[in-house]
Amino acid sequence: MKARLRPHTEAAETPTRRTVEFDHAFRARLRELLVWRRDVRRFRRDGLPNGALETLIDLACLAPSVGLSQPWRFVIVDDCARRAAIRENFATCNAQALAAQDSCRAGTYARLKLAGLEEAPAHFAVFADRSTTQGHGLGRRTMPEMIEYSAVTAVHTIWLAARAQGIGMGWVSILDPAAVAEILDVPAEWKFIGYFCLGYPQTDDTTPELERAGWEERRSAAIVIRR
Ligand SMILES: Cc1cc2nc3c(=O)[nH]c(=O)nc-3n(C[C@H](O)[C@H](O)[C@H](O)COP(=O)(O)O)c2cc1C
Repeated sequence: MKARLRPHTEAAETPTRRTVEFDHAFRARLRELLVWRRDVRRFRRDGLPNGALETLIDLACLAPSVGLSQPWRFVIVDDCARRAAIRENFATCNAQALAAQDSCRAGTYARLKLAGLEEAPAHFAVFADRSTTQGHGLGRRTMPEMIEYSAVTAVHTIWLAARAQGIGMGWVSILDPAAVAEILDVPAEWKFIGYFCLGYPQTDDTTPELERAGWEERRSAAIVIRR
């Protein structure tokens, strides 16, 4: 008999068919969670409690996915040699990105801290398994990229779940996907989505670090809505 994967989260243990209402206080707290979630690159050195990452991955598995395919694959990176290879790849890619900046921006770019790979106590990578048969192809025929989009929903879920526990997460995309796949020795069908650093943040802030560093500013919703 096939074992059914059940996340061991509180949510999974709640009855599945009762009515749940979220009150005003909850909505206000949810808004705070969204406002205070940050991409974190400056971590304290202390480690996460045992099992914290696995609990967060359980929660991430509650994310939406095309056809209920759950194509996200989490690779926890504890091995020192692998971490060193990732850091080296980041350094190479970041140097190339700096070289590609125009002269007005290069100085600011050089001062940005774009990863917490040295300090973060926990590292993991996310891939999307394009070969999965889970979901029986529903929703993927005309838009196969829905598999990758689905994996991204799990990333955002884990980002919020971590923040709710006081844990910060940073997304590292300044990497060569082929090199990452080789370093982590994953199947060829797995598409690299991102590499993530996790740990307790040195500080909390409501303003993105890139905005504080003068790189870009967050715009209001008004400019992204079209009627
Ligand atoms: C797809 C994606 C890739 C990202 N890659 C990087 C990265 O390589 N390095 C980095 O410092 N931040 C990265 N970020 C974080 C963004 O810079 C950050 O989300 C943005 O500046 C807004 O800040 P906030 O997340 O704190 O609101 C990435 C975010 C996303 C969604």
